[in-house]
Amino acid sequence: MKVLVTGGAGFIGSHVVDKLIQEKYQVVIIDNLSTGLQENINPSATFFQLDIRSEEVLTLFMCEKFDFVIHLAAQTMVHKSLETPSYDCDINVMGTVNILEACRKTGVKRIVFSSTAAVYGNVTTLPVMETNQKAPTSFYGLSKLTCENYLSLYKEVYGLDYMILRYANVYGERQGDGGEGGVISIFTRKISQDQSVLIFGDGSQTRDFIYVGDVANANYQSLLVGSANKICNISTQIETSVNSLIDHIGMISGKMVSRNYNEKREGDIYKSSLSNAIARKDLDWQPHMTLIEGLDKTYHSLSKL
Ligand SMILES: NC(=O)c1ccc[n+]([C@@H]2O[C@H](COP(=O)([O-])OP(=O)(O)OC[C@H]3O[C@@H](n4cnc5c(N)ncnc54)[C@H](O)[C@@H]3O)[C@@H](O)[C@H]2O)c1
Repeated sequence: MKVLVTGGAGFIGSHVVDKLIQEKYQVVIIDNLSTGLQENINPSATFFQLDIRSEEVLTLFMCEKFDFVIHLAAQTMVHKSLETPSYDCDINVMGTVNILEACRKTGVKRIVFSSTAAVYGNVTTLPVMETNQKAPTSFYGLSKLTCENYLSLYKEVYGLDYMILRYANVYGERQGDGGEGGVISIFTRKISQDQSVLIFGDGSQTRDFIYVGDVANANYQSLLVGSANKICNISTQIETSVNSLIDHIGMISGKMVSRNYNEKREGDIYKSSLSNAIARKDLDWQPHMTLIEGLDKTYHSLSKL
């Protein structure tokens, strides 16, 4: 089976590629290396340095005849989407439509799309279910929600199967500091360099941290399940406060962590966790990595850099 992974040189994409190669799939990557790194690319994959918005995408699809597409390439920065909505829309919406067009013109069996908890916006009842109201507070969340709607209409009009995975805050080896959910990589790097960490608010705000290996498994499972066209949260369903996150990293590092508290940031969500009941049932997936184990792996890999 031949799979195209867009964004396969990035943080999550490179782990997805590793998983597929381990499972003996033939993997092709397209990535423009805007935030991805050459060194993340699995040498057993075929790599094309290409923009998802380019015309060459269709030519590549026609030559390679992919069975499946896992689409991760995106503009992932919430603040950038608020500064330049058109840039975010161009990559996330137009880029995705270009990929969808190539899928339907070349008979791809299924596309797996990386979406986000940002599609929900501010919610008061936890854990958030997939059926919750969608009210994104950033253009990034809006562009991802728009793509989800494109996928659903492509299924209706052209019969292209999809799986939509809405990730909570992903963390793990190879994570950069810039994108969504980068708080663990930022704290890890600061703590390993004996620098103080900056916390917005009193640190009691919570997030749902999911390990990247579990996210890679969810993408893999999305190719295997018989019944497609589902939307699944990919999460632990566990709330962890920023203060306890720092306690854990401090313990793993064996260092005294100096903390600076600043004003709460406007627009930051106070509490977050996503229900993973649908992924457990429909994807036959569950998270395996505990936070302590995952943080330990992450700390020891990122602190070497
Ligand atoms: N990291 C998280 O916590 C998180 C949470 C929810 C959703 N997501 C989604 O998961 C996906 C992967 O995110 P990530 O954290 O690995 O980010 P990342 O920045 O590490 O990966 C994105 C990859 O896409 C590539 N890319 C960007 N624009 C491109 C373009 N126009 N053409 C070709 N390649 C392009 C980048 O070079 C990079 O390799 C994204 O779709 C993101 O929205 C991430």
